[in-house]
Amino acid sequence: MSPSHPLRLGVNIDHVATVRNARGGALPDPVRAAHLAIAAGADGITAHLREDRRHIRDDDMERLARELTVPLNMEMAATPEMVAIALRLRPHACCLVPEKREERTTEGGLNVVAAGPFLAEAVAALGRGGVRVSLFVEPDPKVLDAAKALGAPVVELHTGAYCEATGAARAAELARIVAAAAHAEAIGLECHAGHGLDFETVGAVAAIPAMRELNIGHFLVGEAIFIGLEAAIGGMRARMDAARAGAAA
Ligand code: PXP
Repeated sequence: MSPSHPLRLGVNIDHVATVRNARGGALPDPVRAAHLAIAAGADGITAHLREDRRHIRDDDMERLARELTVPLNMEMAATPEMVAIALRLRPHACCLVPEKREERTTEGGLNVVAAGPFLAEAVAALGRGGVRVSLFVEPDPKVLDAAKALGAPVVELHTGAYCEATGAARAAELARIVAAAAHAEAIGLECHAGHGLDFETVGAVAAIPAMRELNIGHFLVGEAIFIGLEAAIGGMRARMDAARAGAAA
C-alpha cells in the first residue's frame, strides 16, 4: 500500500524553553523559534505544558495560542488543571501524555487500558470543546483498541523504544510500529508518531503508509546549535519527503 496522504511535521519547541530556563531570563524565546520553524516548513507547532513548568510556561502557551497561524498541538497530562487551560486556549489539538515528576522526558505511553475515569472525561470534554484529542500510546494493538473505545480520534505512537534500540532490536521495534499503524488505520484512528526521532530514524517511520504526522523536538533543537534551526527542519522535512516518495514508488 502506498502512502495516500501527506505527512505533516510538527516541530516541538519545548527545549528552546529548556535553554531559556537554564538562565531564568527571556531568551531564547520559544515563540520566536515557533515562527522560525513555520517559515522553515513546519506544518504545526507542538509544546508540552508540564505540571512542573520545567520548560514551556503558561505565558508561552498563551502566546502560541494567540500568535500561531498553523495548528498548535498542546501536549499535556490529563489533569483537571490542564484540561481547564486547554479549554480556555482552544489549541487545534491536545496530545494527552503520562507525566511523572521525576522523569526526564515522557518515558512511556499512556496506560489507556487501565486508565482511571478522568482520562475518558478529559477526552470527552476536550472533544466537546472542539479540540482534536490524541493519546500518546505504546505501539500495541490492545492499547489502540482501548484508545478507540475512549473516543479519541487520534493516537500518537511512541517511537522512543525504536529510536533507542540498535540492530535486530530496532528492526523488531519498527515492526511493532508498522503493525500498530496499520491497526490504527483499520479501526479508524488517525495515526501520528514521535519521540526521539532524528535524521537516521525518521525515514522508516515516515514511510509507513498510515502515518499522518510526526512530532519532533529534541533532536531538531540540538541540531540547530550546529546547523541552525532552519537547516535542521529543512533536513528533516527532506528526509520525510524522500521516505514518503520512496514508499509510494
Ligand atoms: N510526542 C510526544 C507525545 C512527546 O511527549 C514528545 C516529547 O516531548 C515528542 C513527541 C517529541 O519527542 P522528541 O523531543 O524526542 O523529538
